[in-house]
Amino acid sequence: MKESTFYLLVYLWIAVALVSFPFILKIEAPYGRHASKRWGAMIDNRIGWIIMELPALIVFAGFYIFGTGAHPPVTWVFFGFWVFHYINRTLIFPFRLRTKGKKMPLAIVLMAIFFNLVNGSINGYFLGTIANEARYPLSYFGDPRFIAGVVFFISGLAINWNSDFILIHLRKPGESGYVIPQKGLFKYISCPNHFGEIVEWSGFALMTWCSPAVAFTIWTMVNLLPRALHHHKWYQTTFPEYPPERKAVIPFIL
Ligand SMILES: NC(=O)c1ccc[n+]([C@@H]2O[C@H](COP(=O)([O-])OP(=O)(O)OC[C@H]3O[C@@H](n4cnc5c(N)ncnc54)[C@H](OP(=O)(O)O)[C@@H]3O)[C@@H](O)[C@H]2O)c1
Repeated sequence: MKESTFYLLVYLWIAVALVSFPFILKIEAPYGRHASKRWGAMIDNRIGWIIMELPALIVFAGFYIFGTGAHPPVTWVFFGFWVFHYINRTLIFPFRLRTKGKKMPLAIVLMAIFFNLVNGSINGYFLGTIANEARYPLSYFGDPRFIAGVVFFISGLAINWNSDFILIHLRKPGESGYVIPQKGLFKYISCPNHFGEIVEWSGFALMTWCSPAVAFTIWTMVNLLPRALHHHKWYQTTFPEYPPERKAVIPFIL
């Protein structure tokens, strides 16, 4: 594929994200607490998570490893960060969920597969085929974008994992109800797991300094900012005692 065609597709993908944002803001993504049978056939929640996240791992790794580019050492580090995140999200996180008996709409799984296929492909293709030594020389390891991006990525990952851990342990094995989370960043925001994920992928975009990673970060925001706002509203209407000072997703701001 011509490089210019590739970039055109990436910009189109970003445009789709921006156009989708107002709609995603209006419609609660129907999984977890917002699950709804109105979205048609349902499948087991845990299996849904594995199937929908797997393309982000497999397709990204395939495009990177079998890409025809130079694979400079810096890109192997980017590859490592991506794969590290998705090994957890695909192969560990779904088995830790206390989600007995819960289901999610097949439509959500199919949409997420498409989302992960596109993001995994463009990022894997860019790093495996387009990226070269001129763009990422060994000295890039000392570049402020790389260093700041790594700090953001690791901080975001830590917040995301810690918050997911807190959420999962709100339930005893076999339970399926909801309580108000009180630990960690939950003191300040309703959805630190989503906040962490956004910080993490912003770090990835910063360290790689490329449009496919920016596209993925924008999509992550387009998915997770509305989801966090919907969760926040749900907490406020479900629990009258919900802490009034708590924000939705960005401490002290939103
Ligand atoms: N990159 C992206 O675009 C993207 C998109 C979606 C998700 N993600 C990531 O995937 C992970 C899961 O996302 P999510 O939206 O499903 O998170 P979530 O709605 O916060 O749920 C996470 C888990 O915690 C449970 N839980 C949440 N709040 C609870 C409460 N108050 N009491 C008891 N249990 C509670 C949920 O149970 P239920 O399932 O029963 O509600 C679920 O098992 C997050 O780390 C998120 O950042 C990333």
